[in-house]
Amino acid sequence: MTSPVLKASQLTKRFGEFTAVDGVSFEIRPGEILGLLGPNGAGKTTTIQMLLGLVTPTSGSIEVFGLNLSTSRETILQQVNFSSTYIAMPQSLTVEENLWVVARLYGVSDIAQRIDRVVKKLEMDEFRHKVTRKLSSGQMTRLTLAKAFLTEPRILFLDEPTASLDPDIAYKIRSLLKEERQSSGLSILYTSHNMREMEEMSDRIIFLQRGRLVAEGTAQAIVEQFGKADLEEVFLKLARESDTPLS
Ligand SMILES: Nc1ncnc2c1ncn2[C@@H]1O[C@H](COP(=O)(O)OP(=O)(O)OP(=O)(O)O)[C@@H](O)[C@H]1O
Ligand SMILES: [Mg+2]
Repeated sequence: MTSPVLKASQLTKRFGEFTAVDGVSFEIRPGEILGLLGPNGAGKTTTIQMLLGLVTPTSGSIEVFGLNLSTSRETILQQVNFSSTYIAMPQSLTVEENLWVVARLYGVSDIAQRIDRVVKKLEMDEFRHKVTRKLSSGQMTRLTLAKAFLTEPRILFLDEPTASLDPDIAYKIRSLLKEERQSSGLSILYTSHNMREMEEMSDRIIFLQRGRLVAEGTAQAIVEQFGKADLEEVFLKLARESDTPLS
């Protein structure tokens, strides 16, 4: 079997007394789309932030391309990118200027060409010269995706990439992601609260509940494991359990 591109082992994050991520272990395989699922507050974003080296784990380890994230952070982060609503970009720059800044930071070659390509792919032509502050939320989402694609990463972490997109653009983004992994072997970790989307996109899913990994497998296997009709029903069961206080 080919080795995983990412391996998280016993990943734990505590904020004071509160445990946001609790002993979570999983792998991402080459060219795989791994869905990260869980109710609000389950620990998804915290997990992704640890994988990006933005948040230091309380314990556990992260290996990417066989290298340890804590000791080979720079090498790893050159080949990894992410998109999420919590990215802050300079608001007074235009979309295109922001992409230039990212491209420079990552040492991208053929910047103008690559920006053209990404702008075309994500249908951003009509707002590429707009000031970032004036973007609609869907346009902003596309800018953060463009930033992620620009550096041609080998792994992408996408935290609710389609949350504010209209159905037409969301569909196009999903197609684009599937094409990219097909053509370049890109591996993707993906979160969404849209269960149909999760079923459609994910090769496998890991399910977090209160920071713990409670299910892992294909959407179909998880649905069968819980004896439910679909992923939405599994989600509702686990989310409602999360609402009740722990005894
Ligand atoms: N910096 C922090 N300090 C204290 N608690 C935090 C911090 N960051 C996250 N948390 C807590 O950790 C838990 C997990 O948060 P996280 O953002 O990872 O959830 P999530 O699964 O991404 O949820 P959502 O679906 O709402 O995006 C939450 O209870 C949150 O309040
Ligand atoms: Mg989140």
